[in-house]
Amino acid sequence: MLSREVKERLREYETPFYLYDMELLRRTVECALREADRYGYRLHYAMKANNDRRIMEFIASCGMGADCVSGNEVRRAIETGFAPKDIVYAGVGKKDSEIIYALRQGIFAFNCESKNELVVIDALARELGVVADVALRINPDIDPHTHSYITTGLSENKFGISPREITDVVGMLGDLRNIDIMGLHFHIGSQITDLGVFAELCRKVNASYRWFTEEGFRITDVNVGGGLGVDYDVPEMHPVPDFAAYFAVFAQGLDLPASVGVHFELGRSLVAQCGELISTVLFTKVSGLGDDIALIDASMTELLRPALYHSRHAIENLTGTGPERAYTIGGTVCESSDIFARDLSLPELRRGDLLSIKTAGAYGAAMASRYNLHDLPQAVFSDEL
Ligand SMILES: Cc1ncc(COP(=O)(O)O)c(C=O)c1O
Repeated sequence: MLSREVKERLREYETPFYLYDMELLRRTVECALREADRYGYRLHYAMKANNDRRIMEFIASCGMGADCVSGNEVRRAIETGFAPKDIVYAGVGKKDSEIIYALRQGIFAFNCESKNELVVIDALARELGVVADVALRINPDIDPHTHSYITTGLSENKFGISPREITDVVGMLGDLRNIDIMGLHFHIGSQITDLGVFAELCRKVNASYRWFTEEGFRITDVNVGGGLGVDYDVPEMHPVPDFAAYFAVFAQGLDLPASVGVHFELGRSLVAQCGELISTVLFTKVSGLGDDIALIDASMTELLRPALYHSRHAIENLTGTGPERAYTIGGTVCESSDIFARDLSLPELRRGDLLSIKTAGAYGAAMASRYNLHDLPQAVFSDEL
């Protein structure tokens, strides 16, 4: 809840902008690290969720590693203080130039997703005279009970090596002298709120580990990805996700030798709740059906999630106090999908009211675009207000 003084100060910034609560970020990151530490788990920040330099510098300073999905992400992770030896590089498609860059940095591991990719990394590593550490990303065919656009571990998804190809892949690994298969990698989707899904993941991880060990591989590290969901409906009830319950599921479900390093790649659960998108009401009108519409100066260019996934974000009128009315909240972009909410009750909206769109710290600013030649949204930090 923002104080009246803070709300007044927000008026000094041009909307729309992202406001980050650095104290909540600190509490969240510290809680995740503390709970992971109970079991000796290693955390990597999935920076695709939010690549803001200040946020990354803070997370790096807390001692996390980074999970990157492009050469530019690897570069930014290093620039913002993550040690190359703590960086994992995933991504279903990696360009040669990106692989070469990451090989030169000496990152912890490449998470590899196809035969082609393994052959290419091996050849590029040979040219550079190095051996690449590689974790094979396995597609375990698990339904994470989340939005279909953010499932990544089902057979129909493009991610990971499918069980039908595994024997083939393993068969050719003997010829690849410049890669060392030291790990297994899994990531089954995002915004997962049913912890039973992670228990199922553990069973698949155990089976894969056993299979690879029996095949003669020396697997030293297992990476179970990210995916822990957050509360978009009533964010103030759960500002910090339940990391204790999450890691406990793995502690109970994983059956791996103590010497095997267990890694996580958390994105959303670390940064979603600390960010909100602040926007100004531009106009109100009534639709042909008689519905109240409020047009705000944020749109899908600043926060794509509602248009992309039909996702819902809680919205607060920061400045209005009148009687409640039900609104459709729309952005400025010339797309009918550019809608943040329908039938949302808010204190009556007037031109100039400030709105806060909550739980926007993950996959918000990172997905912003310049469609309609909008400016990219600025970041404002709570400790600078
Ligand atoms: C390979 C991989 N790891 C980690 C993540 C982070 O997931 P989340 O933000 O749900 O924790 C993603 C997100 O898509 C991913 O693709």
